[in-house]
Amino acid sequence: MAKRRIEALGPLRGKRVLVRVDFNVPLREGAGGAMTVGDDHRLLMSLPTIRRLRDAGARVLLGSHLGRPSGGKVEPEFSMKPVAERLSTLLGAPVRFVADLVGAEAQAAAAALQDGEVLLLENLRFDKGEKKGAEEFGRALAALAEVYVNDAFGVSHRGDASVTVPPRLLPAAAGDLVATELERLAPLRDGSAPRPYVVVMGGGKLADKIPVLEALVPKVDAVLIGGGMSYTFLKAKGEEIGRSRHEPELLDTARKIMERAGDKLALPIDHVVATSPDDPTGYAVVERLPQDRMALDVGPRTIADYCRRLTGARTVFWNGPLGVFEKKPFNLGTDYVASFLGYSGGIHTVVGGGDSAAAARELGIDERMGWVSTGGGASLEFVQGEALPGIEALPDA
Ligand code: 3PG
Repeated sequence: MAKRRIEALGPLRGKRVLVRVDFNVPLREGAGGAMTVGDDHRLLMSLPTIRRLRDAGARVLLGSHLGRPSGGKVEPEFSMKPVAERLSTLLGAPVRFVADLVGAEAQAAAAALQDGEVLLLENLRFDKGEKKGAEEFGRALAALAEVYVNDAFGVSHRGDASVTVPPRLLPAAAGDLVATELERLAPLRDGSAPRPYVVVMGGGKLADKIPVLEALVPKVDAVLIGGGMSYTFLKAKGEEIGRSRHEPELLDTARKIMERAGDKLALPIDHVVATSPDDPTGYAVVERLPQDRMALDVGPRTIADYCRRLTGARTVFWNGPLGVFEKKPFNLGTDYVASFLGYSGGIHTVVGGGDSAAAARELGIDERMGWVSTGGGASLEFVQGEALPGIEALPDA
């Protein structure tokens, strides 16, 4: 069911609108030691909603978490202040920042907002009520505003207070980013995406991908496996995997997935091996894994095989790198397959957030993809058919 959109909220001029955004972005030390935003993709993706609300004359209060500060304590390295600065540059307008959440300072800052102005609250996880989904904290946040918009798809799979409580108390709607994410991901979940529909699934841990594999195998035409999770499958097939990491407790599950998938499921047929990801000297391409080496990427025959299987696909859901892509030369499997997807006309590729989105951006091919989700865990949970608490809490259209 589609969710209510901003246009259904009526005139917003002069109204305080609390917008839950996902500005959980990496920070790094900039010139002079000040912290700056390391990757502003999520900020850029929230601009349409913020601009639209400003243009409508709303008074915009933004709230987000950043990182995982321990137990609701204020930890200055997780402050949202650098995010406010970067957002202000991207927006081309001042973004006020208040080092408070629901106290007197935040209330005064919210009350002082003028039409079209933007205020960013401090990291919501500095209050322990946020992670606990506490009613009291959610109520206090809602009391700062008159209207609520959820534009934080990336955190909508959490039961956090800011995504679950205010939409029950205030007139609420999905922001433009949340609406687009739902629109782009729903056909992958329902299996209604144009066929052939192929899944490229990588990443280190099979445990994280079992639910999505179980949900998608019956709905898709092919599943191409890469990354560390491949070695649990290969071990389950009885192959020698050397020192490659695998999950012994999942061998049975891997066998069952392979049985159900049959020919649909493809595994790497060659590998790039080394003694460790930190020591690329003496790396080699092999078809049989030696006992004293670990596999760190898929090899060239696998790349060619996967590109062949992807030829003619109309929809691809790509989640997870095919090797240890952040360490050269173990990036090639991910880079080649991602580039193939980016440069092949006719394939609509949806990138399922997290590491794959970072890899696509690093390669400069994110713009060539059909959609790069801003949610890592959220996009996986949605595609595997889970109800996301932050989305469920929003009223239907
Ligand atoms: C993400 O980056 O995936 C979201 O912001 C959610 O963050 P979390 O995993 O810390 O809840």
